[in-house]
Amino acid sequence: MQLHLSTWPEVEAYLAKSKAILIPIGSTEQHGPNGLLGTDALCPEIIGKRAGDEAGILIGPTFNVGQAQHHMGFVGTITLRPSTMIAAMQDWAQSLVRHGFERIYWLNGHGGNIATITAAFSEIYHGVTFSNGSGGSHAGSNHPPLRCTLRNWWELNGVMDVCRQLFPVGEGSHATPSEVSVTWAGYPEAVKSVAMSPRIAPNGPILDADDYRRRFPDGRIGSDPSQANVEAGEKIVAAAVKAVISEFRTFAAS
Ligand code: NI
Repeated sequence: MQLHLSTWPEVEAYLAKSKAILIPIGSTEQHGPNGLLGTDALCPEIIGKRAGDEAGILIGPTFNVGQAQHHMGFVGTITLRPSTMIAAMQDWAQSLVRHGFERIYWLNGHGGNIATITAAFSEIYHGVTFSNGSGGSHAGSNHPPLRCTLRNWWELNGVMDVCRQLFPVGEGSHATPSEVSVTWAGYPEAVKSVAMSPRIAPNGPILDADDYRRRFPDGRIGSDPSQANVEAGEKIVAAAVKAVISEFRTFAAS
C-alpha cells in the first residue's frame, strides 16, 4: 500500500489498524557508467513497495534527494545541505504525527545520509508535538512518544550474505553490482551493457567532489557493476523484503 496511490479514507482506515509507516530514503547521484542516478532512492523504494504489497504495510513517498555533495563532479547529481534535509525530514515527521502516526521506519539507500538522518531524529524528537497539542518527549506525558528508526537496506538480515554469494569479486563500495541489480529488478527496461575499464574500479579516499572525479573518473569505487543482472536483483530483493517485513512488524509493535 503506497500513500501517494491511496485516498485519504484508505489511509484513515489503515491508521485504525496500524500507527506505523515505512519511508524509503535515498539520494539522486551518479552511480557509474551503467547505474541509474536514482539508484540509492530506487533500491529502498523497490524493496519497500514489494514489502508493502506483500504485508499490507503503508509505504510513504520516497525522500529521494539526500547528501551527495561528494558526487557533484558528475552531472545529474542533486544534493541537499544537511540543514535542509533535517528540516524537511522534521516537516515530514510532524505532518505524519499530526495524523496519528507513532512509528516511522526510514529504509535508507545511501551511506552518506546516515549521519544527517541520525541528526534529524534528534531534531524530530526535540520538536515533536502530537495532534492534541502535547509534547511527545516531555516527562509525564501519557501519550506514547514518536519513534523513528533507520535501517540501511543492505544491512537487513541475510542481505549481505546473498550479495557476497552472487558477487564474490568486484562488489566494491559505490556503484556496486548488487545495488545496480536491485534497480534492474524494479526497472528491467533500464538494463544496459557497458564495458568497464578497468574491470574493477580502484579503491581509495575522497577529499571533495573534484578529487572524486579525478580519482574515480567513471564514478565507481572498487566495483564491477557489469556483473549486474535482473535475476541477481530479484534474489537480493526477495531476501530484503522478507527481512524488512519481519523487522517492520517488530518495530510497529514496540
Ligand atoms: Ni549507492
